[in-house]
Amino acid sequence: MASKSAKRPVLIVNGPNLNMLGTRQPEIYGKETLADIERACRAEAKSLGLTVDFKQSNIEGELVGYIQQARAANSAIVINAGAYTHTSVAILDALNVAELPVIEVHLSNIYRRESFRHHSYVSLAATGVICGLGSQGYLLALTAVAQLLTKK
Ligand code: DQA
Repeated sequence: MASKSAKRPVLIVNGPNLNMLGTRQPEIYGKETLADIERACRAEAKSLGLTVDFKQSNIEGELVGYIQQARAANSAIVINAGAYTHTSVAILDALNVAELPVIEVHLSNIYRRESFRHHSYVSLAATGVICGLGSQGYLLALTAVAQLLTKK
């Protein structure tokens, strides 16, 4: 039986510049928009018996706020923190406060790119990390969340 918290929506939280997907460096990030990814996530969540809260912000403090609220409101967190992945101790601290399963997602393979992208603060709080598979990474993250929540 899934626990009560498993019935809460999964928070899918996106950081800076991800609102520009579709026009932003499509050779790296693909042609899909964030709205396309949201639609695909909602469909995948439905087929897995989950619901999602889908958020994006360019502001670090707003992302921290969404993650803080997740402790009471969400069952798990799927996070693509964008560039804050590589800089934000505040997001790492918020993820640790949440005490929820965390799946870190990146559209691109951050390990094939500039060395400053090789370090992730988010990874220190992540249950698992998916990168380099484009928008499919979000869907794989939801599959992982569904399994983690039924194991609880
Ligand atoms: C990203 C990778 C980050 O290094 C970059 O700053 C992003 C997007 C990705 O999804 O591949 O904004 O998180």
